Amino acid sequence: MKVAVFSAKSYDREHFDPTNQANQANHGGHELVYFEPHLTPQTAILCCGFEAVCCFVNDTLNSETIGILADCGVGLIAMRCAGFNNVDLEAAKAAGIRVARVPEYSPHAVAEHAVALILGLNRNLHRAYNRVRENDYALSGLLGFDLYGKTVGMAGSGKIGAVFARIMTGFGCQVIASDPHENPDLEGIVDYVENDQLFARSDIISLHCPLVPATHHLINAATIGQMKPGAMLINTSRGGLIDTPAVINALKSGQLGYLGLDVYEEEADLFFEDNSNMLLQDDVFARLLTFPNVIITGHQAFFTREALNAIAHITLNNISDYAAGRHNGVEWVA
Ligand code: NAI
Repeated sequence: MKVAVFSAKSYDREHFDPTNQANQANHGGHELVYFEPHLTPQTAILCCGFEAVCCFVNDTLNSETIGILADCGVGLIAMRCAGFNNVDLEAAKAAGIRVARVPEYSPHAVAEHAVALILGLNRNLHRAYNRVRENDYALSGLLGFDLYGKTVGMAGSGKIGAVFARIMTGFGCQVIASDPHENPDLEGIVDYVENDQLFARSDIISLHCPLVPATHHLINAATIGQMKPGAMLINTSRGGLIDTPAVINALKSGQLGYLGLDVYEEEADLFFEDNSNMLLQDDVFARLLTFPNVIITGHQAFFTREALNAIAHITLNNISDYAAGRHNGVEWVA
């Protein structure tokens, strides 16, 4: 099958090509053509002649793009990620285009990155790193707190939340969670509460739910007001879960004590590119970067060797299953 791979980076090729070649040896390979730009209504015309597109988190799969894909004869959108909030599923369904995703590749990668943000923020590793390089060994401003005995709240207790909960339990934290679907695997590990209790009781709040209409700006001025003064907020899920100006106000007042982000609502124009020769135009993001108690990474929580291998395997299997008319085993989202 001829597949147009959008937003392609060298590390995508490095993991997709060997997996595809190995499949080819078993007569299951595909013709992969890599395109560096995002898939948008402007670039969608490149898909003509392809049966499938392979996309990532910041491709724009709105109704306009999908209309062009349908006109070009594309029958499959194979997302090489778990989230699919950037895909207009109704438009895909109406156009008869199937959408597959990779529901699980390494929940450990994302959960461990959330923990890295917690540890980095708490012990001020980002500031200590710079100080020591300046021959400055003063400790003032670096005071942390024991994780042991603290309450950690998770919004979302699915695959990533479950791994995160187990790690935090290992530190001696009490883990509470809000989730419309309680995870039976977490019985005895997590106490389920409503959102208001989650915000009121947690010293650290970590977001592990998907971005859907019900969770858009889950963290806003009102919910931040319910939190303990000085609470730590971690978001490795999707930027749209947070109302960023409200978070900036809370950082300025001290209501929020720490912020760790791997995702940002307007990240599509920033992340995954080297913009170091350009002026930063996003004033909200620029303000976030001024806080000493904020650590931001550029959507790298998924970025481990194990995760990239799994993403390549599962995405190519999804494409093979579609090509063979097999629909079992693939998580179709439209
Ligand atoms: P999952 O589907 O296994 O779990 C999500 C959980 O959130 C489910 O238990 C669901 O019931 C729950 N949920 C849904 N609505 C909720 C609400 N209103 N309040 C609280 N919980 C709610 O998904 P998984 O694999 O754990 O991934 C979670 C999210 O992590 C993904 O949706 C994706 O946005 C993000 N992600 C981020 C990555 C990164 O590199 N930063 C990589 C992979 C995923």
